[in-house]
Amino acid sequence: MSPGKKADDSEEADDIDYEEFEDSKLDEDTIDIGDEGVSGLDVTDLPGVGPAIAKRLSEAGYKSVEAIAVASPAELAAAGSIGETTATKIIKAGREMLDIGFETADLLLERRRTAGRITTGSKALDELFGGGLETQAITEMYGSFRSGKTQMAHQLAVNVQRQPEEGGLAATAIYVDTEGTFRPERLEDMAEAYDMDKKKVLKNIVWARAYNSDHQILLCDQAMEMAPERNAKLLVVDSVTSHFRAEYTGRGTLAARQQKLNKHLHHLQRGAEINNMTVYITNQVMSRPDAFFGDPTAPVGGHVLAHVPQTRCYLRKSKGERRICRLVDSPNLPEGEAVFTVVKDGIRDV
Ligand SMILES: Nc1ncnc2c1ncn2[C@@H]1O[C@H](COP(=O)(O)OP(=O)(O)OP(=O)(O)O)[C@@H](O)[C@H]1O
Ligand SMILES: [Mg+2]
Repeated sequence: MSPGKKADDSEEADDIDYEEFEDSKLDEDTIDIGDEGVSGLDVTDLPGVGPAIAKRLSEAGYKSVEAIAVASPAELAAAGSIGETTATKIIKAGREMLDIGFETADLLLERRRTAGRITTGSKALDELFGGGLETQAITEMYGSFRSGKTQMAHQLAVNVQRQPEEGGLAATAIYVDTEGTFRPERLEDMAEAYDMDKKKVLKNIVWARAYNSDHQILLCDQAMEMAPERNAKLLVVDSVTSHFRAEYTGRGTLAARQQKLNKHLHHLQRGAEINNMTVYITNQVMSRPDAFFGDPTAPVGGHVLAHVPQTRCYLRKSKGERRICRLVDSPNLPEGEAVFTVVKDGIRDV
């Protein structure tokens, strides 16, 4: 499906049931995952990759030349049961086929210009984000409970489906839910507020519940693979840290947790770039009893999360239904704050 095609009139999108992603779990028989990346090149076109290696790589999630080109030699060697030297050669060939490597800044600018933006539903917030949440990047929203992180995720899943002139990308969404807080009823509320066809809106969102951190990683990899064929331009991971936090307790396990989380986030970043999609992740805050000055809360995940996501925002509740979103870190936007509210219709200006 071409990126410009409208989500509404897409036959493929019509076939998607948001429960299908969950039901299929990781069973590839029920969900047809395209074996071709954006380039349409076949993995067996790579020198040294025969059907047997291709099969092993595919089973490990390396189904396209794109996925192989950005893998690390060690990862690929393990996945394909091949030597690291062979893996390095395969990766190099993949990069050459796709023309990945250094490029001049004007080309990068051109690619950045193809980045789209998804409106949040609030003008003040959109302004803070320079026009909405950007594709080719991860946006992390961290904040305490009921601060609106999940509501924002729902709103984005609806808004990505709207037409570009309405602040959308005429695309679909993939939602990975780790906390069991995905609510199709809320999507209906939000769709109704825009006079959208509720049924279509739900069909354009595939949803899966992740039961542990490994499952979450697998689902995200699967999401990145199916993004092109579903014209998905938004991946939600709500929340990205809760399983990691629950599974790795105690000081001794911290390094292992951070390493795994770091890898997970780098995969998400890669997928965001390859698929020109927005990755929206949420994160809880933990209290810092040792903090004497400033805000006594800190996002879970510490410095790993601080360095991977492109844009980090801190959400907090204010008087009444008001919420304050502070842009904490962004490579190209000034720090700032915006006030918005959560109502039945969704995310709105105050
Ligand atoms: N139908 C609705 N109408 C109005 N406001 C609503 C509605 N549904 C939810 N909200 C608002 O959204 C809040 C919940 O926000 P949300 O679930 O996004 O929090 P969160 O940041 O994801 O919290 P957590 O860390 O617990 O996951 C509610 O407290 C309420 O203020
Ligand atoms: Mg939530």
